[in-house]
Amino acid sequence: MSTQAFRASLLTLLDDPRTNPDAVAWHEDGLLLVEDGQIVSAGPYAGDPGVPVEPLPGRILIPGLIDTHIHFPQTDIIASYGAQLLDWLKTHTFPAEQAFVDPAHAARLAEVFLDELLRNGTTTAMVFGTVHKASVDALFAAALARNMRLIAGKCLMDHGPEGLRDAPDSGRADSEALIRDWSRRGRLGYAITPRFALSSSREQLTGAGEMLAAHDHVWLQTHLSENPTEIRLTAERFPEAKDYLDVYDRHGLVTDRSVFAHGIHLRDREVIRMAAAGSAVAFCPTSNLFLGSGLFDLARCDAHGLRVAMGTDVGAGTSFSLFATLAEAYKVGQLRGSNLDPFRALYLATLGGARALNLQDRIGSLQAGREADFLVLDPAATPLLARRTAPSSQRGGDLMSRLFALIMLADDRAVERTYVMGRLAHQRA
Ligand code: GUN
Ligand code: ZN
Repeated sequence: MSTQAFRASLLTLLDDPRTNPDAVAWHEDGLLLVEDGQIVSAGPYAGDPGVPVEPLPGRILIPGLIDTHIHFPQTDIIASYGAQLLDWLKTHTFPAEQAFVDPAHAARLAEVFLDELLRNGTTTAMVFGTVHKASVDALFAAALARNMRLIAGKCLMDHGPEGLRDAPDSGRADSEALIRDWSRRGRLGYAITPRFALSSSREQLTGAGEMLAAHDHVWLQTHLSENPTEIRLTAERFPEAKDYLDVYDRHGLVTDRSVFAHGIHLRDREVIRMAAAGSAVAFCPTSNLFLGSGLFDLARCDAHGLRVAMGTDVGAGTSFSLFATLAEAYKVGQLRGSNLDPFRALYLATLGGARALNLQDRIGSLQAGREADFLVLDPAATPLLARRTAPSSQRGGDLMSRLFALIMLADDRAVERTYVMGRLAHQRA
Protein backbone atom coordinates (compact mmCIF):
# COMPACT_ATOMS: atom_id res chain seq x y z
CA MET A 1 0.00 0.00 0.00
CA SER A 2 1.40 3.43 -0.89
CA THR A 3 0.53 6.38 1.31
CA GLN A 4 1.20 10.03 0.55
CA ALA A 5 0.55 13.06 2.73
CA PHE A 6 0.74 16.70 1.67
CA ARG A 7 0.59 19.67 4.00
CA ALA A 8 -0.61 22.83 2.25
CA SER A 9 -3.70 25.00 1.96
CA LEU A 10 -6.66 23.01 0.62
CA LEU A 11 -9.49 24.50 -1.43
CA THR A 12 -12.37 22.48 -2.82
CA LEU A 13 -16.07 22.91 -3.56
CA LEU A 14 -18.41 20.38 -1.99
CA ASP A 15 -21.52 21.69 -3.74
CA ASP A 16 -22.66 24.56 -6.00
CA PRO A 17 -21.94 27.76 -4.05
CA ARG A 18 -24.75 29.49 -5.96
CA THR A 19 -27.31 27.48 -4.03
CA ASN A 20 -25.38 26.25 -1.00
CA PRO A 21 -23.66 28.82 1.24
CA ASP A 22 -21.62 26.02 2.88
CA ALA A 23 -20.20 24.72 -0.38
CA VAL A 24 -16.65 26.04 0.04
CA ALA A 25 -14.14 23.96 2.00
CA TRP A 26 -10.96 25.93 2.79
CA HIS A 27 -8.24 24.76 5.11
CA GLU A 28 -5.48 27.32 5.34
CA ASP A 29 -3.24 24.73 7.03
CA GLY A 30 -4.54 21.49 5.58
CA LEU A 31 -3.54 17.88 5.06
CA LEU A 32 -4.34 15.72 2.06
CA LEU A 33 -3.90 12.00 2.64
CA VAL A 34 -3.76 9.69 -0.39
CA GLU A 35 -3.60 5.90 -0.42
CA ASP A 36 -3.15 3.88 -3.58
CA GLY A 37 -4.34 6.74 -5.73
CA GLN A 38 -7.47 7.46 -3.68
CA ILE A 39 -8.08 10.35 -1.30
CA VAL A 40 -8.37 9.06 2.25
CA SER A 41 -8.93 12.42 3.89
CA ALA A 42 -8.78 16.13 3.15
CA GLY A 43 -9.04 18.47 6.10
CA PRO A 44 -7.24 20.66 8.60
CA TYR A 45 -3.73 19.64 9.62
CA ALA A 46 -4.15 18.14 13.08
CA GLY A 47 -0.64 17.05 13.98
CA ASP A 48 1.57 14.20 12.84
CA PRO A 49 -0.55 11.73 10.86
CA GLY A 50 1.96 8.93 11.41
CA VAL A 51 3.19 8.87 7.82
CA PRO A 52 5.84 11.02 6.14
CA VAL A 53 4.35 14.41 5.26
CA GLU A 54 5.53 16.57 2.38
CA PRO A 55 5.30 20.20 3.47
CA LEU A 56 4.23 22.56 0.66
CA PRO A 57 4.29 25.99 2.29
CA GLY A 58 2.50 28.75 0.42
CA ARG A 59 0.91 26.28 -1.96
CA ILE A 60 -2.80 25.59 -2.55
CA LEU A 61 -4.12 22.13 -3.39
CA ILE A 62 -7.25 22.03 -5.53
CA PRO A 63 -8.96 19.22 -7.46
CA GLY A 64 -7.78 18.54 -11.01
CA LEU A 65 -9.59 20.76 -13.51
CA ILE A 66 -12.23 19.36 -15.85
CA ASP A 67 -12.57 20.49 -19.46
CA THR A 68 -15.92 19.32 -20.83
CA HIS A 69 -15.32 20.36 -24.43
CA ILE A 70 -12.11 20.26 -26.44
CA HIS A 71 -10.84 19.01 -29.83
CA PHE A 72 -7.51 17.21 -29.66
CA PRO A 73 -6.87 17.33 -33.44
CA GLN A 74 -7.14 21.13 -33.35
CA THR A 75 -4.12 21.59 -31.10
CA ASP A 76 -1.98 22.85 -33.97
CA ILE A 77 -4.52 25.35 -35.32
CA ILE A 78 -5.15 27.18 -32.06
CA ALA A 79 -4.97 30.92 -32.72
CA SER A 80 -5.63 30.83 -36.48
CA TYR A 81 -6.54 34.21 -37.94
CA GLY A 82 -9.86 35.38 -39.27
CA ALA A 83 -13.41 34.23 -39.90
CA GLN A 84 -16.40 33.01 -37.93
CA LEU A 85 -17.40 29.41 -37.36
CA LEU A 86 -18.26 28.02 -40.80
CA ASP A 87 -15.39 29.77 -42.60
CA TRP A 88 -13.01 28.87 -39.79
CA LEU A 89 -13.97 25.22 -40.10
CA LYS A 90 -13.38 25.27 -43.85
CA THR A 91 -10.19 27.31 -43.84
CA HIS A 92 -8.33 25.97 -40.80
CA THR A 93 -10.06 23.08 -39.09
CA PHE A 94 -10.93 20.61 -41.80
CA PRO A 95 -7.48 20.70 -43.44
CA ALA A 96 -5.84 20.12 -40.04
CA GLU A 97 -8.19 17.24 -39.27
CA GLN A 98 -7.47 15.60 -42.61
CA ALA A 99 -3.87 15.04 -41.51
CA PHE A 100 -5.17 12.58 -38.90
CA VAL A 101 -5.72 10.01 -41.62
CA ASP A 102 -2.08 9.17 -40.69
CA PRO A 103 -2.12 7.19 -37.40
CA ALA A 104 1.49 8.20 -36.66
CA HIS A 105 0.48 11.87 -36.79
CA ALA A 106 -2.44 11.12 -34.46
CA ALA A 107 -0.16 9.30 -32.02
CA ARG A 108 2.29 12.23 -31.91
CA LEU A 109 -0.43 14.81 -31.42
CA ALA A 110 -2.10 12.73 -28.71
CA GLU A 111 1.03 13.05 -26.58
CA VAL A 112 1.37 16.77 -27.27
CA PHE A 113 -2.30 17.25 -26.38
CA LEU A 114 -2.17 15.33 -23.10
CA ASP A 115 1.06 17.10 -22.11
CA GLU A 116 -0.73 20.39 -22.68
CA LEU A 117 -3.77 19.34 -20.61
CA LEU A 118 -1.61 18.27 -17.67
CA ARG A 119 0.63 21.34 -17.89
CA ASN A 120 -2.52 23.41 -17.47
CA GLY A 121 -3.88 21.32 -14.62
CA THR A 122 -6.61 19.59 -16.60
CA THR A 123 -6.90 16.01 -15.43
CA THR A 124 -10.18 15.08 -17.13
CA ALA A 125 -11.48 16.17 -20.51
CA MET A 126 -14.32 15.31 -22.85
CA VAL A 127 -12.64 15.27 -26.22
CA PHE A 128 -13.52 15.28 -29.92
CA GLY A 129 -11.34 13.19 -32.21
CA THR A 130 -11.54 13.47 -35.97
CA VAL A 131 -13.72 11.36 -38.23
CA HIS A 132 -10.91 8.80 -38.27
CA LYS A 133 -11.30 5.92 -35.83
CA ALA A 134 -7.52 5.71 -35.49
CA SER A 135 -7.38 9.26 -34.08
CA VAL A 136 -9.39 8.11 -31.08
CA ASP A 137 -7.46 4.84 -30.77
CA ALA A 138 -4.30 6.96 -30.52
CA LEU A 139 -5.75 9.30 -27.90
CA PHE A 140 -7.15 6.48 -25.76
CA ALA A 141 -3.86 4.56 -25.89
CA ALA A 142 -1.95 7.65 -24.75
CA ALA A 143 -4.47 8.48 -21.99
CA LEU A 144 -4.53 4.87 -20.76
CA ALA A 145 -0.74 4.89 -20.44
CA ARG A 146 -1.08 7.99 -18.21
CA ASN A 147 -4.03 6.52 -16.30
CA MET A 148 -6.11 9.63 -17.06
CA ARG A 149 -9.86 9.82 -16.71
CA LEU A 150 -10.70 10.88 -20.24
CA ILE A 151 -13.82 10.69 -22.40
CA ALA A 152 -13.52 10.86 -26.18
CA GLY A 153 -15.26 9.97 -29.40
CA LYS A 154 -14.84 9.74 -33.13
CA CYS A 155 -16.72 12.42 -35.10
CA LEU A 156 -19.75 11.19 -36.97
CA MET A 157 -19.96 13.33 -40.12
CA ASP A 158 -21.48 11.65 -43.16
CA HIS A 159 -22.24 15.16 -44.49
CA GLY A 160 -18.67 16.29 -43.87
CA PRO A 161 -16.37 17.70 -46.53
CA GLU A 162 -14.48 15.56 -49.02
CA GLY A 163 -11.81 13.58 -47.17
CA LEU A 164 -13.53 13.90 -43.79
CA ARG A 165 -16.72 12.02 -44.50
CA ASP A 166 -17.91 8.73 -43.06
CA ALA A 167 -21.14 6.90 -43.81
CA PRO A 168 -23.95 5.91 -41.45
CA ASP A 169 -22.80 2.27 -41.46
CA SER A 170 -19.05 2.86 -41.20
CA GLY A 171 -19.42 5.62 -38.61
CA ARG A 172 -21.56 3.35 -36.49
CA ALA A 173 -19.26 0.35 -36.87
CA ASP A 174 -16.22 2.44 -35.93
CA SER A 175 -18.02 3.88 -32.89
CA GLU A 176 -19.12 0.42 -31.76
CA ALA A 177 -15.56 -0.89 -32.15
CA LEU A 178 -14.18 2.00 -30.10
CA ILE A 179 -16.77 1.41 -27.38
CA ARG A 180 -15.90 -2.30 -27.30
CA ASP A 181 -12.14 -1.69 -27.25
CA TRP A 182 -11.88 1.27 -24.87
CA SER A 183 -15.00 2.16 -22.87
CA ARG A 184 -14.46 1.52 -19.12
CA ARG A 185 -10.90 0.36 -19.77
CA GLY A 186 -8.74 1.97 -17.09
CA ARG A 187 -10.41 5.33 -16.54
CA LEU A 188 -11.54 5.83 -20.14
CA GLY A 189 -15.04 6.55 -21.37
CA TYR A 190 -16.61 6.82 -24.80
CA ALA A 191 -18.75 9.66 -26.14
CA ILE A 192 -20.85 9.20 -29.26
CA THR A 193 -19.91 12.29 -31.26
CA PRO A 194 -22.11 13.58 -34.06
CA ARG A 195 -20.09 16.69 -34.93
CA PHE A 196 -23.10 19.03 -35.25
CA ALA A 197 -26.50 18.95 -36.91
CA LEU A 198 -25.11 20.13 -40.25
CA SER A 199 -22.56 17.33 -40.44
CA SER A 200 -24.92 14.36 -40.11
CA SER A 201 -27.85 12.88 -42.02
CA ARG A 202 -31.05 11.89 -40.25
CA GLU A 203 -29.98 8.29 -40.72
CA GLN A 204 -26.68 8.91 -38.96
CA LEU A 205 -28.35 10.80 -36.09
CA THR A 206 -30.81 7.92 -35.70
CA GLY A 207 -27.88 5.50 -35.43
CA ALA A 208 -26.23 7.74 -32.84
CA GLY A 209 -29.40 7.70 -30.74
CA GLU A 210 -29.63 3.92 -31.00
CA MET A 211 -26.04 3.49 -29.83
CA LEU A 212 -26.60 5.89 -26.92
CA ALA A 213 -29.65 3.89 -25.85
CA ALA A 214 -27.87 0.55 -26.27
CA HIS A 215 -24.86 1.43 -24.06
CA ASP A 216 -25.73 2.95 -20.69
CA HIS A 217 -22.05 3.69 -19.94
CA VAL A 218 -21.38 6.00 -22.89
CA TRP A 219 -21.93 9.74 -23.28
CA LEU A 220 -23.09 11.96 -26.13
CA GLN A 221 -21.17 15.11 -27.12
CA THR A 222 -21.98 17.54 -29.89
CA HIS A 223 -22.27 21.25 -30.72
CA LEU A 224 -25.47 23.24 -30.30
CA SER A 225 -26.61 26.71 -31.32
CA GLU A 226 -23.20 28.32 -31.64
CA ASN A 227 -23.40 30.66 -34.61
CA PRO A 228 -26.32 32.48 -36.29
CA THR A 229 -25.52 31.21 -39.80
CA GLU A 230 -25.14 27.65 -38.51
CA ILE A 231 -28.53 27.95 -36.79
CA ARG A 232 -30.23 29.26 -39.93
CA LEU A 233 -28.78 26.49 -42.10
CA THR A 234 -29.80 23.90 -39.52
CA ALA A 235 -33.38 25.16 -39.57
CA GLU A 236 -33.36 24.89 -43.39
CA ARG A 237 -31.92 21.35 -43.34
CA PHE A 238 -34.34 20.12 -40.65
CA PRO A 239 -37.64 21.97 -41.26
CA GLU A 240 -39.50 19.35 -39.21
CA ALA A 241 -37.61 20.33 -36.03
CA LYS A 242 -39.04 22.89 -33.59
CA ASP A 243 -35.57 24.38 -33.07
CA TYR A 244 -31.90 23.36 -33.06
CA LEU A 245 -32.14 21.19 -29.94
CA ASP A 246 -35.15 19.40 -31.38
CA VAL A 247 -33.01 18.08 -34.26
CA TYR A 248 -31.09 16.11 -31.62
CA ASP A 249 -34.17 15.36 -29.51
CA ARG A 250 -35.99 13.73 -32.42
CA HIS A 251 -33.13 11.25 -32.60
CA GLY A 252 -32.93 10.38 -28.90
CA LEU A 253 -29.81 12.44 -28.25
CA VAL A 254 -31.08 14.72 -25.46
CA THR A 255 -30.39 12.72 -22.29
CA ASP A 256 -28.73 12.97 -18.89
CA ARG A 257 -25.53 11.68 -20.51
CA SER A 258 -25.49 14.41 -23.17
CA VAL A 259 -23.12 17.39 -23.17
CA PHE A 260 -23.86 20.17 -25.65
CA ALA A 261 -21.14 22.67 -26.43
CA HIS A 262 -21.98 26.39 -26.64
CA GLY A 263 -25.77 26.78 -26.56
CA ILE A 264 -25.42 30.52 -27.02
CA HIS A 265 -28.52 31.40 -29.02
CA LEU A 266 -31.09 29.10 -27.42
CA ARG A 267 -34.77 29.73 -27.02
CA ASP A 268 -36.22 29.31 -23.53
CA ARG A 269 -37.89 26.10 -24.69
CA GLU A 270 -34.52 24.55 -25.47
CA VAL A 271 -33.04 25.50 -22.10
CA ILE A 272 -36.09 24.11 -20.29
CA ARG A 273 -36.04 20.89 -22.31
CA MET A 274 -32.32 20.28 -21.66
CA ALA A 275 -32.79 20.93 -17.95
CA ALA A 276 -35.71 18.49 -17.82
CA ALA A 277 -33.67 15.84 -19.62
CA GLY A 278 -30.73 16.34 -17.23
CA SER A 279 -28.39 17.32 -20.07
CA ALA A 280 -25.43 19.66 -19.59
CA VAL A 281 -24.03 22.61 -21.53
CA ALA A 282 -20.33 23.34 -21.96
CA PHE A 283 -19.65 27.08 -21.71
CA CYS A 284 -16.63 27.89 -23.89
CA PRO A 285 -16.03 31.63 -23.54
CA THR A 286 -12.61 31.96 -25.21
CA SER A 287 -13.99 30.20 -28.29
CA ASN A 288 -17.24 32.14 -28.28
CA LEU A 289 -15.35 35.43 -28.22
CA PHE A 290 -12.62 34.32 -30.64
CA LEU A 291 -15.12 33.20 -33.31
CA GLY A 292 -17.47 36.08 -32.52
CA SER A 293 -20.19 33.53 -31.81
CA GLY A 294 -21.91 35.40 -29.00
CA LEU A 295 -22.28 35.77 -25.23
CA PHE A 296 -23.38 32.70 -23.29
CA ASP A 297 -26.22 33.36 -20.83
CA LEU A 298 -25.18 31.56 -17.65
CA ALA A 299 -27.82 33.27 -15.52
CA ARG A 300 -30.62 31.94 -17.72
CA CYS A 301 -29.26 28.38 -17.49
CA ASP A 302 -29.07 28.77 -13.71
CA ALA A 303 -32.63 30.09 -13.57
CA HIS A 304 -33.87 26.94 -15.31
CA GLY A 305 -31.62 24.53 -13.39
CA LEU A 306 -29.62 23.52 -16.46
CA ARG A 307 -26.24 22.00 -15.59
CA VAL A 308 -23.33 24.07 -16.90
CA ALA A 309 -19.64 23.19 -17.03
CA MET A 310 -16.59 24.76 -18.64
CA GLY A 311 -14.98 23.93 -21.97
CA THR A 312 -11.90 25.41 -23.59
CA ASP A 313 -12.99 24.33 -27.10
CA VAL A 314 -9.40 24.38 -28.34
CA GLY A 315 -8.67 25.06 -31.23
CA ALA A 316 -11.45 27.68 -31.54
CA GLY A 317 -10.73 28.32 -27.89
CA THR A 318 -7.56 30.30 -27.42
CA SER A 319 -6.13 28.62 -24.31
CA PHE A 320 -5.79 25.18 -22.77
CA SER A 321 -5.96 26.87 -19.37
CA LEU A 322 -9.24 26.64 -17.50
CA PHE A 323 -8.06 29.65 -15.48
CA ALA A 324 -7.87 31.71 -18.67
CA THR A 325 -11.25 30.25 -19.64
CA LEU A 326 -12.83 31.27 -16.32
CA ALA A 327 -11.34 34.75 -16.65
CA GLU A 328 -13.12 35.14 -20.00
CA ALA A 329 -16.31 33.68 -18.50
CA TYR A 330 -16.19 36.43 -15.90
CA LYS A 331 -15.89 39.07 -18.63
CA VAL A 332 -18.79 37.54 -20.57
CA GLY A 333 -20.79 37.78 -17.35
CA GLN A 334 -19.92 41.46 -17.10
CA LEU A 335 -21.33 42.06 -20.58
CA ARG A 336 -24.41 39.99 -19.68
CA GLY A 337 -24.98 41.94 -16.48
CA SER A 338 -24.25 39.10 -14.09
CA ASN A 339 -21.27 38.40 -11.86
CA LEU A 340 -19.40 35.11 -11.82
CA ASP A 341 -17.92 34.93 -8.34
CA PRO A 342 -14.60 33.10 -8.00
CA PHE A 343 -15.95 30.23 -5.90
CA ARG A 344 -18.64 29.52 -8.48
CA ALA A 345 -16.00 29.79 -11.18
CA LEU A 346 -13.82 27.20 -9.47
CA TYR A 347 -16.90 25.02 -8.97
CA LEU A 348 -17.73 25.12 -12.69
CA ALA A 349 -14.21 23.94 -13.57
CA THR A 350 -14.15 21.18 -10.93
CA LEU A 351 -17.20 19.65 -9.26
CA GLY A 352 -19.56 21.29 -11.77
CA GLY A 353 -17.66 19.60 -14.59
CA ALA A 354 -17.73 16.29 -12.74
CA ARG A 355 -21.49 16.63 -12.25
CA ALA A 356 -22.03 17.46 -15.92
CA LEU A 357 -20.30 14.15 -16.71
CA ASN A 358 -22.04 12.22 -13.87
CA LEU A 359 -18.59 11.56 -12.39
CA GLN A 360 -19.00 13.50 -9.14
CA ASP A 361 -18.51 10.36 -7.03
CA ARG A 362 -15.05 9.87 -8.54
CA ILE A 363 -13.55 13.26 -9.41
CA GLY A 364 -14.09 17.00 -9.01
CA SER A 365 -13.46 17.49 -5.29
CA LEU A 366 -10.97 16.76 -2.52
CA GLN A 367 -12.98 14.35 -0.42
CA ALA A 368 -12.43 10.89 1.04
CA GLY A 369 -13.13 8.20 -1.53
CA ARG A 370 -12.42 10.33 -4.60
CA GLU A 371 -9.66 9.55 -7.08
CA ALA A 372 -6.56 11.57 -6.24
CA ASP A 373 -6.48 13.89 -9.26
CA PHE A 374 -5.28 17.16 -7.80
CA LEU A 375 -3.08 20.19 -8.40
CA VAL A 376 -0.41 21.97 -6.42
CA LEU A 377 -0.93 25.63 -7.24
CA ASP A 378 1.76 28.21 -6.74
CA PRO A 379 -0.14 31.46 -6.17
CA ALA A 380 3.16 33.35 -6.37
CA ALA A 381 4.15 31.86 -9.73
CA THR A 382 4.75 35.28 -11.26
CA PRO A 383 5.73 38.57 -9.63
CA LEU A 384 2.31 40.04 -10.33
CA LEU A 385 0.46 36.97 -9.02
CA ALA A 386 2.62 37.10 -5.91
CA ARG A 387 1.62 40.73 -5.28
CA ARG A 388 -2.07 40.17 -5.89
CA THR A 389 -2.53 36.87 -4.06
CA ALA A 390 -0.38 37.47 -0.98
CA PRO A 391 -2.52 37.13 2.15
CA SER A 392 -1.10 40.46 3.28
CA SER A 393 -1.64 42.32 -0.01
CA GLN A 394 -3.61 45.49 0.61
CA ARG A 395 -6.72 44.63 -1.29
CA GLY A 396 -6.17 40.91 -1.55
CA GLY A 397 -6.43 39.94 2.08
CA ASP A 398 -9.51 37.77 2.04
CA LEU A 399 -9.80 34.38 0.36
CA MET A 400 -12.37 35.50 -2.19
CA SER A 401 -10.23 38.39 -3.43
CA ARG A 402 -7.12 36.23 -3.55
CA LEU A 403 -8.89 33.47 -5.47
CA PHE A 404 -10.39 35.99 -7.88
CA ALA A 405 -6.99 37.51 -8.62
CA LEU A 406 -5.54 34.02 -9.06
CA ILE A 407 -8.23 33.01 -11.55
CA MET A 408 -7.94 36.24 -13.52
CA LEU A 409 -4.14 36.16 -13.73
CA ALA A 410 -3.20 32.48 -13.64
CA ASP A 411 -2.06 30.30 -16.50
CA ASP A 412 0.04 27.14 -16.69
CA ARG A 413 2.79 28.81 -14.65
CA ALA A 414 0.56 28.69 -11.57
CA VAL A 415 0.25 24.90 -11.90
CA GLU A 416 3.36 23.69 -10.09
CA ARG A 417 2.36 20.03 -10.13
CA THR A 418 -0.43 17.90 -11.51
CA TYR A 419 -1.23 14.56 -9.88
CA VAL A 420 -3.21 11.82 -11.62
CA MET A 421 -4.47 9.10 -9.25
CA GLY A 422 -1.78 10.10 -6.79
CA ARG A 423 0.99 9.91 -9.40
CA LEU A 424 3.00 13.02 -10.30
CA ALA A 425 2.03 13.54 -13.95
CA HIS A 426 3.39 17.04 -14.50
CA GLN A 427 5.90 19.19 -12.71
CA ARG A 428 6.54 22.80 -13.75
CA ALA A 429 10.07 23.23 -15.04
N1 GUN B 1 -19.16 23.05 -34.90
C1 GUN B 1 -18.88 21.97 -35.65
N2 GUN B 1 -17.58 21.64 -35.58
C2 GUN B 1 -17.01 22.51 -34.76
C3 GUN B 1 -15.69 22.69 -34.25
O1 GUN B 1 -14.76 21.95 -34.57
N3 GUN B 1 -15.49 23.72 -33.39
C4 GUN B 1 -16.50 24.54 -32.99
N4 GUN B 1 -16.23 25.52 -32.14
N5 GUN B 1 -17.74 24.41 -33.44
C5 GUN B 1 -18.00 23.41 -34.30
ZN1 ZN C 1 -16.08 22.43 -30.29
